[in-house]
Amino acid sequence: MKKLGIAVTDPDDWTARTFIETANSKGLEALAVDLREAEAAIDKDRSYMAGGLDLRELDALIVRDMGAGTDDALTFRFDILRELEMEGMTVVNPPSAIQNAANKYHCSHLFSRAGIPIPGTRVVQDIETALRTLDHFQDAVLKPVFGYKGIGISRIKEGRIIRPDGTDSGDNVKGLLTSLLKERGMIFIQEFIENPGRDIRAFVIDGEVAGSIYRKAADGWWLNNLSQGGSPARCTLGDEQENICTRATEATGAVFAGVDIIEGPEGPRVLEINATPSGAGIFRVWNINVTEHIIDAVLKLL
Ligand SMILES: Nc1ncnc2c1ncn2[C@@H]1O[C@H](COP(=O)(O)OP(=O)(O)O)[C@@H](O)[C@H]1O
Ligand SMILES: [Mg+2]
Repeated sequence: MKKLGIAVTDPDDWTARTFIETANSKGLEALAVDLREAEAAIDKDRSYMAGGLDLRELDALIVRDMGAGTDDALTFRFDILRELEMEGMTVVNPPSAIQNAANKYHCSHLFSRAGIPIPGTRVVQDIETALRTLDHFQDAVLKPVFGYKGIGISRIKEGRIIRPDGTDSGDNVKGLLTSLLKERGMIFIQEFIENPGRDIRAFVIDGEVAGSIYRKAADGWWLNNLSQGGSPARCTLGDEQENICTRATEATGAVFAGVDIIEGPEGPRVLEINATPSGAGIFRVWNINVTEHIIDAVLKLL
């Protein structure tokens, strides 16, 4: 019986739970792996244990969730994944793809190289250039490079900081830029793309779109994340959109991914890609179980 590890931290998470159930129903031995408990022993030989399980005994490892932690701890968990891969294990998504996707700046580079349309993107490290960039775009969003769930994103339109609900915060732009520079040392700035108050999350697996949903913001809001009050609805992609989503996934090296695109006045733009996506939204709206297709894709690699 093949042993399939699923890296999860929250056993109640729909995606984590369904991975385990689906793997068991396919006759695999599914084992939950909590990377927060992983430890390594390196001498002449190498051992990687997590919760009493010898990770080298797995045939494959699917990464749903690496867990939160300090930079050192996260780097260590990534290192374990890279090392298991070097020892010959199939790790999906490949750690390099997870890293590419998590980094919004580097992803912009990968997308641009692959000819995938993205919003205009700038990274700056000083306040004067930041102000000039905001002036250039007129309407822009500032995002944490390693952000998620719409957390920590600001919008600055014509010199005003716009709250997620679309109202003017009245806060001082220079003050915001100063504190961002102090906190992060750099600012990732993207042109704001006018859109119909929704964006699209497409789930790509093994080179194909398995399903997609709209995420509609609450009235007047400009943040469409489901975790920020957005609501999901069925979406069927056109050929151009499908093509962009599968190419974006390929550009990061991911086997499966959630690709966020926004419908701008000049066509679709890829906002970001998530290589450890939740399957819950697509299941709720389409009744499509992405874990089924992901496990099939992993079995093909063994
Ligand atoms: N360039 C942009 N133009 C318009 N809206 C944007 C832009 N970037 C982000 N947003 C809005 O903010 C949300 C979160 O941005 P995203 O890049 O997906 O980061 P996160 O990783 O936090 O989800 C998007 O779903 C979208 O609603
Ligand atoms: Mg997003």
